[in-house]
Amino acid sequence: MTTHTYVYSAAVALIFSGQIIAAPEKPVSANEFIQLFEKLNGKHPGVRKAHASGVCATGEFQPNTQSNLFKSAPLLSSGALPVTLRFSMGGGNPIADERTTGTRGMGMQINLPGGARHIFTGNNFPVFAGKDPETFFGFLSTLLPDENGKRDPKKTQEYIKNNPSVQGNVAWNAQAKTPASYANTEFFGLHTFFYGNGADQVKFRWQLTPDLGVKTLSKEQAQQLKPAFLADKLANQLTQGTVSFTLNAVIGEKQDAVIDPSVQWPADRAQVALGKVVLKQSGGDACTPINFDPNVISQGFTASDDPVLKMRSMAYAISFGKRLSGQ
Ligand code: HEM
Repeated sequence: MTTHTYVYSAAVALIFSGQIIAAPEKPVSANEFIQLFEKLNGKHPGVRKAHASGVCATGEFQPNTQSNLFKSAPLLSSGALPVTLRFSMGGGNPIADERTTGTRGMGMQINLPGGARHIFTGNNFPVFAGKDPETFFGFLSTLLPDENGKRDPKKTQEYIKNNPSVQGNVAWNAQAKTPASYANTEFFGLHTFFYGNGADQVKFRWQLTPDLGVKTLSKEQAQQLKPAFLADKLANQLTQGTVSFTLNAVIGEKQDAVIDPSVQWPADRAQVALGKVVLKQSGGDACTPINFDPNVISQGFTASDDPVLKMRSMAYAISFGKRLSGQ
């Protein structure tokens, strides 16, 4: 269904249901997202327009040879593969205070033989703030200050009330604690992908689970740290031992949401370990020339029609071009 059809049918549903529900949002473009991010965070030439502050790391993906899942995929049948990964703070502030709660991100590129790549991106929340780009955009727009530089929390509250698909993410944020380290954070892919074709097709969402366990800080513990502690913490953990994650595929059942990242799948869905991501080094510029576009996937995998996932390729391309050209 195109975005226009969606808006039309939502409007019809609104008229015939007789209920007062949120008015349909108008279609939004990738460029409008970039402009909105710049309005929310200020202009920072040469910097990512979202997830602006972060740290790069390199290592290896070691596929799980015991698993039968996706075993014919080059991603899993090529032995250990090089990984370039970037952990980040959500938002467009290049000097974000890392003692705060909220979004942490992870972009990972696995290089396959013959030049192919597989990119994974995930955040530390299990559910996205909106069923589609328009809802997410509408939500973020309520955070813009007025002409006197003031935000209106009532506007945001009203939007949340009228848009159920942002409520899961808002509830997660309300209880979130400060992550103790990127190496102790779980990352959720959120979108649905497929492997294979026809009757054998597997529907899944991926997840990256830290082998050192999920660890968070209380407000008091966080306040004792420097505003930027995450890169040092990771470097320190790397000198002390192995920093690794397990890459899991969460297997969807027929009734599970496909195109809506604001809907979580039931917690009892089977999880299959696809392999380990073992980090060796952190810091450096290896991530600068990488556009962590989640639609870059390797042979055998396909992306769902999730409109948020589709929007991301376009927005990332604009941000990538801008930052590489110093805009
Ligand atoms: C409509 C929805 C979204 C928009 C418009 C958007 C936009 C962006 C943009 C513009 C960037 C900077 C890209 C660059 O300069 O290289 C970015 C980075 C990032 N986004 Fe999103 N994003 C969206 C949804 C998501 C979702 C659902 C996730 C998690 C599953 C996510 C995770 C990330 C991460 C981890 C990065 C940092 C990548 C890096 O380190 O280079 N984003 N996003």
